[in-house]
Amino acid sequence: MDDMTFNIFEPSPEPVIDPAIDIEAEIDRLRHERNAIILAHYYQDPAIQDIADFVGDSLDLSRKAAATDADVIAFCGVRFMAEVAKILSPEKTVVLPDMRAGCSLEESCPPEEFAAFRHAHPDHIAITYVNCSAAVKAETDIIVTSSNAVAIINQLPKDQKILFAPDRHLGAWLSEKSGREMVLWPGTCIVHERFSERELIKLKAQYPDAPVAAHPECPVQILDLADHVGSTSSILKFAGESTADTVIVATEPGIIHQMQKARPDKTFIGAPGADGNCNCNMCPFMAMNSMEKLYVALRDLEPQIVLDEDVRLRALKPLQRMLEMSPAAAPATDLSTVHTDTAVSA
Ligand code: 13P
Ligand code: SF4
Repeated sequence: MDDMTFNIFEPSPEPVIDPAIDIEAEIDRLRHERNAIILAHYYQDPAIQDIADFVGDSLDLSRKAAATDADVIAFCGVRFMAEVAKILSPEKTVVLPDMRAGCSLEESCPPEEFAAFRHAHPDHIAITYVNCSAAVKAETDIIVTSSNAVAIINQLPKDQKILFAPDRHLGAWLSEKSGREMVLWPGTCIVHERFSERELIKLKAQYPDAPVAAHPECPVQILDLADHVGSTSSILKFAGESTADTVIVATEPGIIHQMQKARPDKTFIGAPGADGNCNCNMCPFMAMNSMEKLYVALRDLEPQIVLDEDVRLRALKPLQRMLEMSPAAAPATDLSTVHTDTAVSA
């Protein structure tokens, strides 16, 4: 990674590319030449989602990264997601178009402070949200994502004390869903925290028949207004299957691209921020990747995820526990069959 003195919201500079180059065609050529798979999260730019081999939530993407026989994984998401791919598939080259694509939750949880937090609670099991660094994973007992966390926590003995990091909103939601008390790390997602309760109430009044689907990284006052709470995949499924013709979506608006592709007959409205605008909730980290940077990453096989082997091996254990304890992947739904070019998990 480049020097750590940059502002975390500042992307790497866009590469200078000969304007005569057809970027899409080159990405396609290089993907075959390199035996590469392009994995993309639902929050990526629509052009990246459309060129990817597979689009999914963080659990789907980790499963795909563990199972692929490609030599190269071009991971279009944020750094912790690409690190998971490398932890699970160390023999593969994993490139991330912009190595600065971090995450505010990862940022909120420095490994040394997390280790101290753990040691202060020696009788608690450490359940950690996948949105954290490899070094924090290495100090964890079980990793979870928003799609498997409830099912995993429900498998723990009832008297097992739990500490949960780094997202306090997801932690509070899990605590309520599972009926278990948890010691929570105080991290938040700067994107999901920005939805405005007041503006959402106004929007609901404007569209009284539109259900609200929200990600559990949102604060409780937003979740209390939601008809469905779940991971990005589950939000996508809900939005496609709901009988309502308008759905309000309280997560990063990149996901609306897949909703509109799957259900062009419906209207999807991004939940508003404090200024009533829906665009303030774009993840600045996800937005750092671009088609140009993806092309350069496939061309140069840089920037690559490189992990210390001791950290990787320690981080692998809680990730393997997560995969073993996760409910089986949901079968493809009507939503996914709409796509013919790109596999989309729903
Ligand atoms: P998902 O696991 O639902 O894809 O969420 C990842 C994330 O970063 C949400 O902000
Ligand atoms: Fe991290 Fe929030 Fe961006 Fe997800 S949306 S990657 S949690 S900053």
